[in-house]
Amino acid sequence: MIELEKLNCTFFPGTPNAKTVIRDLDLTVAAGEFVTIIGSNGAGKTTLFNLIAGSLMPTAGRVRIDAADVTAQPEYKRARTIGRIFQDPLAGTASNMTLEDNMMITCRKGFKWPVISLNRRMRAYFREQLVDLKMGLESRMKENVSTLSGGQRQALTLLMMVLSRPAIALLDEHTAALDPRNAAIVMDLTRRFVDEHRLTTLMITHNMNHAIAFGSRLLMMDAGDVVIDVSGKEKQRLSVSRLLEMFADVRHKAFESDAVLLSGAVRG
Ligand SMILES: Nc1ncnc2c1ncn2[C@@H]1O[C@H](COP(=O)(O)OP(=O)(O)OP(=O)(O)O)[C@@H](O)[C@H]1O
Ligand SMILES: [Mg+2]
Repeated sequence: MIELEKLNCTFFPGTPNAKTVIRDLDLTVAAGEFVTIIGSNGAGKTTLFNLIAGSLMPTAGRVRIDAADVTAQPEYKRARTIGRIFQDPLAGTASNMTLEDNMMITCRKGFKWPVISLNRRMRAYFREQLVDLKMGLESRMKENVSTLSGGQRQALTLLMMVLSRPAIALLDEHTAALDPRNAAIVMDLTRRFVDEHRLTTLMITHNMNHAIAFGSRLLMMDAGDVVIDVSGKEKQRLSVSRLLEMFADVRHKAFESDAVLLSGAVRG
């Protein structure tokens, strides 16, 4: 379970350039929940992931994971329970190492696996996992990851994340750089892995169809806060056009409140 309480993130606090990008954000995500997150550029989605993962410390508020307060815990400690995938397929793997070495490193992550070497048993296990990806990667285990296409690489990154046995997956537009066919393959894998391993998953996407089709709950972020939170039947009934309407509505209200603030400032 992830609990965020009155979370705030201000860059350059106390200076004239102070910029608050996460604002009094409260959010609880139950264990095993699959949440999709949408919102315009700069809404604060990646910053939210940085705060959950510990890559950034909040200026105020608390982050709890499974009831433990991890607000001050460094990123490397949280990495034992949190797997993260980025938009850039190059970000999740070591290019100049072989597929099997990459997979071995992941298995050792957090020392949750006994520290064993890359032996015949491990190779057989990796081969089995790669066969399951259905991308023919099982015959390329001794090739460097740099020889893979973006889609193949992102599928491998997803598999490696699962091998590290995280409880939480943070997926940040992880199919945005892929062509539609590869994006579909990686999304199918995502669904399968989330289900099989009961991962608590937050997935940022700009693809409205993905946001609707995947997960059991959908959040929309705007100006550093969650402005729409739908789940269950309400989410199942969503359509892209309805979502776009809701988005326009949120933007309109934000514009109106800015206008009120501005007119107040002008008047007085
Ligand atoms: N390290 C930083 N220093 C200063 N400002 C930052 C920093 N990181 C992010 N920001 C700002 O915070 C705001 C939110 O950025 P963030 O990356 O969280 O947006 P996002 O919702 O992920 O957008 P996108 O859809 O474009 O990925 C932006 O205005 C961005 O410029
Ligand atoms: Mg982002």
